[in-house]
Amino acid sequence: MSRTPSVGANWKMNLDRAGAEALARDVCDRLGDSPGAEVAVFVPFPYLLEVGRVIRETGSAVRLGAQDLSEHDNGAFTGEVSTAMLLDCGVQTVLAGHSERRHVIGESDQLVGAKARKALDSGLDVILCVGETLEQRQAGETNAINERQIRAGLEGVSPGDMARVTIAYEPVWAIGTGMTATPGDAQNAHATIRALLASMFSSALAQETRIQYGGSVKPGNAGELMAQPDIDGGLIGGASLNADDFRAIVRACP
Ligand code: 13P
Repeated sequence: MSRTPSVGANWKMNLDRAGAEALARDVCDRLGDSPGAEVAVFVPFPYLLEVGRVIRETGSAVRLGAQDLSEHDNGAFTGEVSTAMLLDCGVQTVLAGHSERRHVIGESDQLVGAKARKALDSGLDVILCVGETLEQRQAGETNAINERQIRAGLEGVSPGDMARVTIAYEPVWAIGTGMTATPGDAQNAHATIRALLASMFSSALAQETRIQYGGSVKPGNAGELMAQPDIDGGLIGGASLNADDFRAIVRACP
């Protein structure tokens, strides 16, 4: 079974309008129209339209993504952004449950699940982000935490909708710290997640679902990580703010 690798650039709360436009142009130009992997940029809300325009102008295959969404349709939710608004801006894919939203903003597993379902019900693709903290890892809880977050994150998601779901395994202790899981540790976590998906859905579906690795992925470590049999691309933070580094990571996918 061959899965097309998927690589996301999570720009987080960085860049200004001119910087976002310039980086989008660089990424689209450098990757060309057949990057090899499926590539998406996860852009701060205010710059979605601008980056969408650049993607269209360059004829790039890069997909437009948002970093979060509301689980509600519309109404009195000050500061929130609905899926209808995202679709209106040309967004195709969205992150749900990024570790910074879970651990800094305080989103629960149940809220992340509601967001993932809302994204899918609205016609968006979704990247469900999961991963353990350092404390949980040291307590030997990595697989249990991933299982809890995946079961809650995919609650009510049908097998048919799973074609639009990607899982991102991002150990919290590896995000923005320069510490990366060893390729072997990451592979073990990914294989365990795939086995879980097989038990929740079917082994055929588990074989088709892409599982990205995230956490201090850089051009220098991407090759070894992406070569692991159950790692199907990456979700890239810091290194995605440099178009050359990001391109090198995309090119490292088999
Ligand atoms: P870094 O690549 O900066 O560690 O961030 C990873 C991440 O959080 C991507 O979503």
